[in-house]
Amino acid sequence: MTKKRRISWIVFFISVVFIMGNAIYVIYFSEKEEAPAGSLLLERDVSVGARTLKRENEPISPIRKPKNLNAGKVELGYALFHDPRLSKDDTISCASCHDLLNGGVDDTKFSVGVDGAVGSINAITVYNSSLNFVQFWDGRAKSLAEQTAGPITNPVEMASSWQQVISKLSADADLSDYFIRVYGEKPGRRNIADALAEFERSLVTPSRLDRWLQGDNDALTPAELRGYNAFVSHGCAACHQGEGIGGNIYQRFGIMHDYFANKGQISQSDMGRFNVTKREEDRFVFKVPSLRNVMLTAPYFHDGSSETLESAVVQMGYFQLGENLPSGDVENIVEFLNALTGEELQR
Ligand code: HEC
Ligand code: HEC
Repeated sequence: MTKKRRISWIVFFISVVFIMGNAIYVIYFSEKEEAPAGSLLLERDVSVGARTLKRENEPISPIRKPKNLNAGKVELGYALFHDPRLSKDDTISCASCHDLLNGGVDDTKFSVGVDGAVGSINAITVYNSSLNFVQFWDGRAKSLAEQTAGPITNPVEMASSWQQVISKLSADADLSDYFIRVYGEKPGRRNIADALAEFERSLVTPSRLDRWLQGDNDALTPAELRGYNAFVSHGCAACHQGEGIGGNIYQRFGIMHDYFANKGQISQSDMGRFNVTKREEDRFVFKVPSLRNVMLTAPYFHDGSSETLESAVVQMGYFQLGENLPSGDVENIVEFLNALTGEELQR
C-alpha cells in the first residue's frame, strides 16, 4: 500500500466512525426529546448535581429550611402568636384566624375578629409566609415584622393599639423576664414584631413535591406527575412558580376574561393593589398566592368565592389562561396540588 492510499484509508475509517457516532447520538437523544407529552414527566430530566440527583430545570424550586433561627425568639413568637392579650378585649389571638393545626387559616370566607366583626377578605395562611416577596393580598406590608401591626390595630381583627398591648404584656412579670432574657429589654413594639416574625420564619413546610424535585422518583404518584405536567404545560407555573409556588409577583385577577364583571357586586377589597398605589393599572391586581398547603386552605381567592379546589382550578384556567381545561386535566392538577401539603401537616 502506498503512503497516499494508507492515509486515505485512515481518513475513510475516521469518517465512518464519526458518522456512525453522530447517527447513534441523533437517534438516541432526539428520540428522547420528541417523546410524547404524557411520558415526558415520568422521565423528566434528572441531572446529576454536585452530590445529589436534582431536577434543576423546573419552574418550581425545592423549599429551603430557614437558616440561623434564634430558638429563644421563635419560642417567644410562638407564645405571642397564641396570646389573646394582643387583642382589645383579650378574646382573639393570631391563632384564632391562623390555626396551625388547620393549615394556618380559619375555615371561613371572611374572618371574625373582636366583637364578632367580620372582615372583607379571605385569610391567607401563615405557613411559608416568609417566602413571599411582600405580605397581604395587596402587598401593603413589605416584611413580616411590618405585617404584624396590621391585625393588632385592625378594627375588624384585634382592634387594639400598640400602647395597650405593650402595657398588658409588660404587666406580666414572667413574660417581661422572658423578653429581657431574649432581647435584653422589656416588651416593645419592635421586639414583639420581631419575635412574631422569627416564629413565622420557622413555619416552612417541606412537601412530597420537594422530595421529588430533589430526585426522589417515588415521592409523587403517576397521577400527581400527570397533574404537574398539566400545571406546567397549561401555563399555571408562569405565575405560580419559584420556591413558594407563588408569592413572588403581582398579577391581575381576570387576564383573559373579566372576573369582576362576571362577579357583579364589587367591594373595596376587590380593588387589590390599587388600594395601596391608587394607580389605575393596579386595579384588580393581587399578589399571586403561594399554592403550598392549598389543599388545607379552602375557601379560595381573596374574596373566598370558590369553595372547592376543583372550581378554583377551573376558574384559573378560564380567567387567567382563557381555556376551558379538560376535566381530566383539572382532576390531575388537583391531585398534584395535594402533593404540595407539608408532610408534617398531612392529616
Ligand atoms: C381576625 C382574623 C385575623 C387575625 C386575628 C390575624 N389575622 Fe393574619 N390575616 C387575616 C386575614 C383576613 C389576612 C389577609 C388580609 C389581607 O391580605 O388584606 C391575613 C394575613 C396575614 C399574613 C399575610 C400572609 C401572606 O401570605 O401575605 C400574615 C403573615 C398574618 N396574617 C399573620 C398574622 C399575625 C402574626 C397575627 C397576630 C398578630 C394575625 N395574622 C392575626 C386574618 C387574621
Ligand atoms: C396570570 C397569572 C396566573 C396564572 C396563569 C394562574 N394563576 Fe392561579 N392565581 C393567580 C392570582 C393573581 C390569584 C389570586 C386571585 C385572587 O384571589 O384575587 C390566583 C389564585 C389561585 C388559586 C387560589 C389560591 C388561594 O389560596 O386562594 C389557585 C388554587 C390557583 N390560582 C391555581 C392555579 C392553576 C391550577 C392555574 C393553571 C390552570 C393557575 N392558577 C394559573 C394568578 C395566576
